[in-house]
Amino acid sequence: MTTQQAPSNEQIRGAWNGIADGFDELVTPETMVLGEEIVRRLGLRAGTRLLDVAAGSGALSIPAARLGADVVATDIAPGMIERLNARARAEGLSSVRGLTMDGQALDLEDDSFDVAASINGVSLFPDMARGLAELVRVTRPGGRVAIVAFGPMEKVEFIAYFIGAVRAAIPGFTPLPTNPPPLPFQVAAPGVLRERLAGAGLHDVQIDTLTWDMAFDSVQHLWRVFASSNPIGAHLIAGLNDGQRADVSQVLEGMLRERSAGVPGAVLHAEVNLGTGTV
Ligand SMILES: C[S@@+](CC[C@H](N)C(=O)[O-])C[C@H]1O[C@@H](n2cnc3c(N)ncnc32)[C@H](O)[C@@H]1O
Repeated sequence: MTTQQAPSNEQIRGAWNGIADGFDELVTPETMVLGEEIVRRLGLRAGTRLLDVAAGSGALSIPAARLGADVVATDIAPGMIERLNARARAEGLSSVRGLTMDGQALDLEDDSFDVAASINGVSLFPDMARGLAELVRVTRPGGRVAIVAFGPMEKVEFIAYFIGAVRAAIPGFTPLPTNPPPLPFQVAAPGVLRERLAGAGLHDVQIDTLTWDMAFDSVQHLWRVFASSNPIGAHLIAGLNDGQRADVSQVLEGMLRERSAGVPGAVLHAEVNLGTGTV
């Protein structure tokens, strides 16, 4: 097992700001489908006071605001919040307020939300326990905390396909560490997510495993989503030379075609766990 030094908030902010354009263009529209499902499962409705932590450009906040929920959306990266606010303005949604804020130290009152949630946000914090403690602190007694986190990497197909193609095209290349796994997969096992939620003092903890379908119309599309979905992906791609990129693309082309019986695009599945608990 190797130890990794935790990046500073400044580094984290810079890394996510650096991919905010691509994230907003390519990742948020895919994730909004999942966000709509989470809004439905949590029973959010007009007047629900929702906190969305590590909100990105609004995959959960915007669908909740469309129903009239009273949403505070926070993210460490101002670039994400600018885009979230722009989405809200474009739809004329006045009940969502985007604020730049570290999810591990929220500048928000105790007990002030009915529901505090995070999609692939708090689950990738270096100090997830601190992020969870903050969600619990700002949620009213009897309110709910919800964490949506990726399942195992091999079941998040857009990542597994990309990593598989890199391994096949570049023998000997180790694309991602496995021990410990990258932070987005630190609670991939439902039992681990359950333990973390219970450890934060939540009651009636429940874990539901969902399948999120992500539609890719080409290898280029999958490539751009991988590069924009997390700074880890952007960093991995930056380390490939032109020849390696061409080889990886060719392998990916074959994988997508095999998946979709010969047509260029494919729908890939991602397993995600929705963990909820009562404060
Ligand atoms: C994978 S994205 C998820 C965004 C959004 N929840 C979604 O599902 O589309 C992770 C987000 O976490 C944010 N983030 C990372 N560390 C953070 C921190 N300490 N506090 C708040 N946000 C953070 C990033 O800026 C990024 O927007």
